[in-house]
Amino acid sequence: MALVGMLLLQLLLWWPPTTAISISSSSSVAMVKPHCKGKCWNVTVPYPFGLDDDPISCYREGFKLNCSTTLDPPQLYIGNTEVLEMSLLPAQLRVLNYIGYDCYNSTDNDYDFPSFNVSARPFTFSDTGNRFTVIGCDNYARITGLNGRNFTSGCSMICNDQQSGFINGSCSGIGCCQTSIPKGLKSFKLYIDSYNNHTDVSDFNPCAYAFLVDSEWYNFSVSDLRGYKDFYNRNRQNVPMVLDWAIENYPCENVSRSDPSYACRNNSECFNSPNGRGYLCNCSLGYQGNPYLDDGCQDVDECADPATNECKAPLAICTNMPGGYNCSCPDGMDGDGRKSGSGCTAHPKKQSAVMEEVALGVGLGIVMLLAIYWLYGVLKKRHLRRRKEIFFERNGGLLLQEKILSNETSFEKLKVFTAKELENATDYYNEDRILGRGGQGTVYKGMLADGRIVAVKKVKIVDENRLKQFINEIVILSQINHRNVVKLFGCCLDAEFPLLIYEFISGGNLAERIHEKNKDLLFSWNIRLKIATEIASAVAYLHSAASIPIYYRDIKSSSILLDEKYTAKVSDFGISRLVENDKTHLTTSVQGTFGYFDPEYFQSYQFTEKSDVFSFGVVLLELLTVEKTISSSRSSEDRCLVTYFASSVREDHFFKILDPQIKQEGKTEELQAVANLAMRCLNTSGRERPTMMEVASELERLRRSDEPSVVPDNGQEVEIFINETLSL
Ligand SMILES: *[C@@H]1O[C@H](CO)[C@@H](O)[C@H](O)[C@H]1NC(C)=O
Ligand SMILES: *[C@@H]1O[C@H](CO)[C@@H](O)[C@H](O)[C@H]1NC(C)=O
Ligand SMILES: *[C@@H]1O[C@H](CO)[C@@H](O)[C@H](O)[C@H]1NC(C)=O
Ligand SMILES: *[C@@H]1O[C@H](CO)[C@@H](O)[C@H](O)[C@H]1NC(C)=O
Ligand SMILES: *[C@@H]1O[C@H](CO)[C@@H](O)[C@H](O)[C@H]1NC(C)=O
Ligand SMILES: *[C@@H]1O[C@H](CO)[C@@H](O)[C@H](O)[C@H]1NC(C)=O
Ligand SMILES: *[C@@H]1O[C@H](CO)[C@@H](O)[C@H](O)[C@H]1NC(C)=O
Ligand SMILES: *[C@@H]1O[C@H](CO)[C@@H](O)[C@H](O)[C@H]1NC(C)=O
Ligand SMILES: *[C@@H]1O[C@H](CO)[C@@H](O)[C@H](O)[C@H]1NC(C)=O
Ligand SMILES: *[C@@H]1O[C@H](CO)[C@@H](O)[C@H](O)[C@H]1NC(C)=O
Ligand SMILES: *[C@@H]1O[C@H](CO)[C@@H](O)[C@H](O)[C@H]1NC(C)=O
Ligand SMILES: *[C@@H]1O[C@H](CO)[C@@H](O)[C@H](O)[C@H]1NC(C)=O
Repeated sequence: MALVGMLLLQLLLWWPPTTAISISSSSSVAMVKPHCKGKCWNVTVPYPFGLDDDPISCYREGFKLNCSTTLDPPQLYIGNTEVLEMSLLPAQLRVLNYIGYDCYNSTDNDYDFPSFNVSARPFTFSDTGNRFTVIGCDNYARITGLNGRNFTSGCSMICNDQQSGFINGSCSGIGCCQTSIPKGLKSFKLYIDSYNNHTDVSDFNPCAYAFLVDSEWYNFSVSDLRGYKDFYNRNRQNVPMVLDWAIENYPCENVSRSDPSYACRNNSECFNSPNGRGYLCNCSLGYQGNPYLDDGCQDVDECADPATNECKAPLAICTNMPGGYNCSCPDGMDGDGRKSGSGCTAHPKKQSAVMEEVALGVGLGIVMLLAIYWLYGVLKKRHLRRRKEIFFERNGGLLLQEKILSNETSFEKLKVFTAKELENATDYYNEDRILGRGGQGTVYKGMLADGRIVAVKKVKIVDENRLKQFINEIVILSQINHRNVVKLFGCCLDAEFPLLIYEFISGGNLAERIHEKNKDLLFSWNIRLKIATEIASAVAYLHSAASIPIYYRDIKSSSILLDEKYTAKVSDFGISRLVENDKTHLTTSVQGTFGYFDPEYFQSYQFTEKSDVFSFGVVLLELLTVEKTISSSRSSEDRCLVTYFASSVREDHFFKILDPQIKQEGKTEELQAVANLAMRCLNTSGRERPTMMEVASELERLRRSDEPSVVPDNGQEVEIFINETLSL
């Protein structure tokens, strides 16, 4: 008994590791005050920065930028310094800075020693982000500035021999030198001097350069030493430099939080600026966004991304909360949802209690309870299995098994779906998914887990006969692989009703399309000829080419499906027959659809391949006349389309009953030929009818002759087709 309880717990512990369930929503984070544009071209300018064409409340003092739209693309400036980028954390800007140079030629000395002053702004030159860099071989250069005290730093460089060990990528004193600058520097000026006017090195180093530069950016190359102002011109006089910014003057300890100018807003914290010049803000733990804006720091939805939460236990429920999240176990379980693997367990307290009590021989009751629960589960499962078995039998599973065992059919391509898969695919047979209802059952549109769209036919089994039809259809379709025969993907027998799963054909059936009220939607003569040819070739294939001949037995326009390219797909194989299987062809009851019947079959009860030819003839008539096979709107003797057609041919006015549209489009001799073919198919004597193969090749021939080398004709066909596609 105890073992049983353990097993149950074990099962729960070994639940497959699905991701924890999240209850959350995500939101985008604002960087700019609500009423401000804050955008220069595609660059967002985050508050406290702002643009000078926005209201003054859109930026903090000293953080005003300027978007020069005269440039293409527009460019951000601060004063007259070009801004490359800016960030809130780290609190930095990247700007362009002039290169200082000192150049010599035989007659002249050209130089520029720029200075930079950000005293008017809450910025400093970043001591961590920049290096003072000098390139040259006969120079000393310095940088002087003010950071409360006078500051000077510099490099001295002598390298007379150009073979004296320059190393690309290494700025280590030979031809290139770097030093750091102190914290808090707000202005600087550069100086470069030459020891010997570059006279000894003029052949390879006419210029020296000095600049404060983003320490990540500059990579020394020997070629930078060469050429007169080459380096300067190549970089268009500028190099990037990093500025640190801060909310200036006071450290966090000295700012009053109630001061309206206090920069850190809701859900954020103050921290002292690394440049020693004031403070900065950071969103509190569990928040992200812009801490300088009201409601700028937004709660992080830790539950949305498994990487940002520690809710790792299978089945654990992650609930996002302001500034954090809660990871709990679902009802009926407890433990620590953060522990992966064994986090949530079924009442571990009870479990340990059970263990102790079992040891003491006291907790038997609880164990019994667990056992009963377990037993209930087993019985329920057994019941379900039995139910499935019953369904399987009832749905013809045994019959199918028989067929498989008798080696009559191969089922390699067929998949057996589970009832559950199909419930999911059809959204529990949702009414909205119904594609059609017919005598055989209801067809639903569904989507399989792999994304394939399918048609699911739920077969109404009313009697043994229907069941046979159903199994029959599986057996037949599993034999066939033809582009004009609808594909069967599989079946399902363990559901309450047997189910067939087909490829989904989007265009509806031919009957709907022919007899649609809206005649504008009707297709052209060429398309009708294509459809007729495809049906004929599919049926001819069934009759001859398939490994075992198949009589279709129920050719009618409502069994012909069309896809969006008007490709015909023959479907509904419920009463079709594998001939080998049914050698006599004698049946006790006539099956088929009224209006398409072969009269000979009706009399003799003997179905032949020519019976299919007759039914096909009726479909041809439908395509030619757009008339219903049986119509009470015609006079009583013409009620049946076959007799109506026959009488009009006899009276030599069959052209009158043709669809006016095709009379315009089709060539007379072509229409005549198809009508003749229909006549031959509908011959009362089966022997006189052509075989399906003959019909197919005749239609194919007509279609070929209809695609002549004459270009205009062809163009017209394409045009008609396109027009129709558009109107659909
Ligand atoms: C902004 O636009 C420029 C060119 O117009 C492009 O090179 C750059 O990648 C864009 N930046 C962003 C963040 O989209
Ligand atoms: C705006 O940018 C231009 C560069 O295009 C610069 O010359 C000008 O001084 C800037 N204006 C202000 C007010 O910063
Ligand atoms: C030296 O440089 C100056 C200006 O940089 C220039 O005008 C002059 O032509 C140059 N002389 C020679 C010999 O290259
Ligand atoms: C820098 O600019 C400020 C005013 O913007 C000025 O008072 C100061 O003298 C300047 N410093 C240098 C070194 O030019
Ligand atoms: C910096 O040096 C200048 C002259 O070189 C001098 O006038 C000034 O007083 C010095 N400033 C400080 C803070 O030492
Ligand atoms: C350094 O790189 C330049 C080009 O970037 C190349 O021409 C030169 O030969 C290289 N020198 C050494 C020593 O690698
Ligand atoms: C610097 O340049 C050298 C050679 O020119 C190259 O091997 C090295 O990867 C470069 N380093 C960086 C950080 O770009
Ligand atoms: C360098 O050139 C300057 C004039 O351009 C001259 O006054 C000075 O004497 C020269 N120095 C040397 C060491 O040649
Ligand atoms: C900050 O306050 C402390 C004492 O409250 C004071 O000693 C210090 O000078 C103040 N610092 C500034 C920059 O005002
Ligand atoms: C923070 O948010 C709360 C409620 O959203 C509000 O009452 C409070 O005034 C806000 N505080 C600040 C500093 O914006
Ligand atoms: C800012 O806050 C985040 C988390 O809220 C933290 O990871 C980060 O280290 C903080 N940065 C600074 C500079 O304090
Ligand atoms: C987390 O959820 C559990 C169960 O729902 C609850 O008992 C606990 O108080 C919650 N923790 C917090 C911090 O809200």
